[in-house]
Amino acid sequence: MPGGVPCEVRCRHRDPQRDRSCATAPVRIQRRHSIVSLLEVKNLEVRFAMRRQELIALRDVSFKVEKGERLGIVGESGAGKSVAAFSILNLISKPGYISSGEIFFGGKDLTKLTAREMSQIRGNQISMVFQDPMMTLNPVLTIGTQMTEALHAHQDISREEAKQRAIETLARVHIPSPATRFDQYPHELSGGMRQRVVIAIALITKPPLIIADEPTTALDVTIQAEIMELMMELCESSGVGLILITHDLGVISQMTERAIVMYAGRIVEEGDTRDIINHAYHPYTHGLMDALPQKTKPGRRLNQIKGVMPALSSIPDGCAFNPRCPLVIDLCRTTLPQFTVFGSTRVACHRAAARTD
Ligand SMILES: Nc1ncnc2c1ncn2[C@@H]1O[C@H](COP(=O)(O)OP(=O)(O)OP(=O)(O)O)[C@@H](O)[C@H]1O
Ligand code: SF4
Ligand SMILES: [Mg+2]
Repeated sequence: MPGGVPCEVRCRHRDPQRDRSCATAPVRIQRRHSIVSLLEVKNLEVRFAMRRQELIALRDVSFKVEKGERLGIVGESGAGKSVAAFSILNLISKPGYISSGEIFFGGKDLTKLTAREMSQIRGNQISMVFQDPMMTLNPVLTIGTQMTEALHAHQDISREEAKQRAIETLARVHIPSPATRFDQYPHELSGGMRQRVVIAIALITKPPLIIADEPTTALDVTIQAEIMELMMELCESSGVGLILITHDLGVISQMTERAIVMYAGRIVEEGDTRDIINHAYHPYTHGLMDALPQKTKPGRRLNQIKGVMPALSSIPDGCAFNPRCPLVIDLCRTTLPQFTVFGSTRVACHRAAARTD
């Protein structure tokens, strides 16, 4: 976006005058380039084999996460964010399946692992934090049992050591009286505390990568900010890589170093978060930014991207965004745009070059 966006776009919940980690200070970018990435997704395609037709939910999705890097994936509902996350952990259930592509993690292609091999990665090497804490927590088991189960499943550790590690991890996620909470059931905790417990379970095995799919959407707005800050602090202090999935560009700008924008199962823009926020090229990314509440004048209706995300059965030819795009030209209706690189950003739009000013 020429000229950048006003700082309040990035300041979701904090006062930029008081908080140096807020928008007035640029998002910390520490590109970590290694010979082998922590995770590398290559040309991933995911399909759902429905009775009448095969629906393609992800098309040619490729991205990397470096060790300790925080990557955001953003897009409207139905963009394919969760399908991408679930594919990494081989959690796509029938009728869905990975139809092509590779997912490299720790030198192995995860798409080729057996169910048993994959269960050694899941929760141990890669943990997932879901939107609703009750999707992860078992209501009839104590917090302590659930935390130590995760440890015993993956590590050779005594009961006492496991308990100690669980209590320490509860303290790390700022759960008050962790030793007492250890013996409590999920219903005895507030929603925010339950999500902290889920984060503690994700962290307890010290995995190099956490995938968080809308981790705060089910929570109260005030708690959302706290949980996000906690996740960022924990990832930074322990060098854990993070894939954060959200529909909120404001969260992406606060929390991540690199961002991917998805639309109708494809990546349409990817780059350093700071560059995307300050100078997005894709009209869809612009639409998402304009739709942020902070960009709407008081008393006015929220800006919206006109139209809706297409269903998988009716994705338009050419650029899938063309029916909604304010910059559409004839070429867009017939020809899929390929990626063009501008600095840290790659963008799939026929008219991206028009936005280089
Ligand atoms: N089990 C399924 N069977 C058929 N289609 C599915 C299935 N799961 C997801 N889809 C379709 O795949 C597409 C991508 O879904 P996905 O859940 O990844 O979207 P999302 O970006 O995570 O959206 P949200 O923000 O609402 O969570 C959608 O069109 C969705 O309808
Ligand atoms: S390719 Fe065309 S329709 Fe698609 S985003 Fe770019 S200008 Fe719009
Ligand atoms: Mg989702």
